[in-house]
Amino acid sequence: MDLRLKPLTFDESKLDGLSRELVVSHRDNNYAGAVRRLGAIRERLGELDWGSAPSFVINGLKREELIAANSACLHELYFDALGGDGVLPSCGLSVALMRDFGSVDQWHAEFTALAKAMGGGSGWAILAWSSREGRLVTHWAADHAHLLAGATPVLALDMYEHAYHMDFGADAAFYVDVFMKNIRWDAVYRRYGAAVAGDAVPLGVGIGAVDPSTARVIDVRRAEDFAAASDMLAGASWYDPAQLDRWTGEVDVTQPVFVYCLKGLDIGRSTALSLRARGFDVRYLSGGIEAWKAAGKPLQAAAVPS
Ligand SMILES: [Fe+2]
Repeated sequence: MDLRLKPLTFDESKLDGLSRELVVSHRDNNYAGAVRRLGAIRERLGELDWGSAPSFVINGLKREELIAANSACLHELYFDALGGDGVLPSCGLSVALMRDFGSVDQWHAEFTALAKAMGGGSGWAILAWSSREGRLVTHWAADHAHLLAGATPVLALDMYEHAYHMDFGADAAFYVDVFMKNIRWDAVYRRYGAAVAGDAVPLGVGIGAVDPSTARVIDVRRAEDFAAASDMLAGASWYDPAQLDRWTGEVDVTQPVFVYCLKGLDIGRSTALSLRARGFDVRYLSGGIEAWKAAGKPLQAAAVPS
């Protein structure tokens, strides 16, 4: 099956500092071109006699298929992230960026420096969820076929000259800053949440599986949510999910761990995946403390570990 062209999800005439002409040219020539190329390549592949085709034909078509498919997918990721105000609200994604890069500002500095370092060349600057490492990573991609194994891209910044030259000339650094001002973070957050949810499927448990007498129970609600809370699971300790590296040394890695957040969505899942990558036998509570309360299970007064 061939990819179908996806429409833009924003008004291309209303981006801040990116002209309609640039965006339309980029979509029609580069994104749509990749989709058309992919269709033509797959047509050729469908006609191939695999038993007799020369290896150079097979190599060439499969190489070009990968390049065209990745170009199409990365361009969709690029355009899907545009149309916002560039302001990342406090959410599970900001918690993960703080956890994995020290702060959102530090991640921003790293990501934009990576992209600017690619100016004058070509490729993609990518933010991806690494299943292997249980964390977000930024990585360099020299071309469309150059992605990190075991990782799901959630934000892709196009550093090919066609993405900026019409508006910015050779000033790739200015283009990077303008792109960041137009990010629609809710779209990036959705992609991040989906990547984490897919990985976390085997780690989710129901309320009946949580027994504080046999496992360490850790509350990983966001700091602001915990500060506003009056109660927590009986026997639990709160640790800031944005500061994972600071507290994992205090937790016995040989003891099973249950983590829970407010609703049992991306923060609990992502924390569990990060702990698993650090060697912990960990599960997260499906439904979070809201489900626990609804089931009438025991609570205690909320208290930060001394
Ligand atoms: Fe592009």
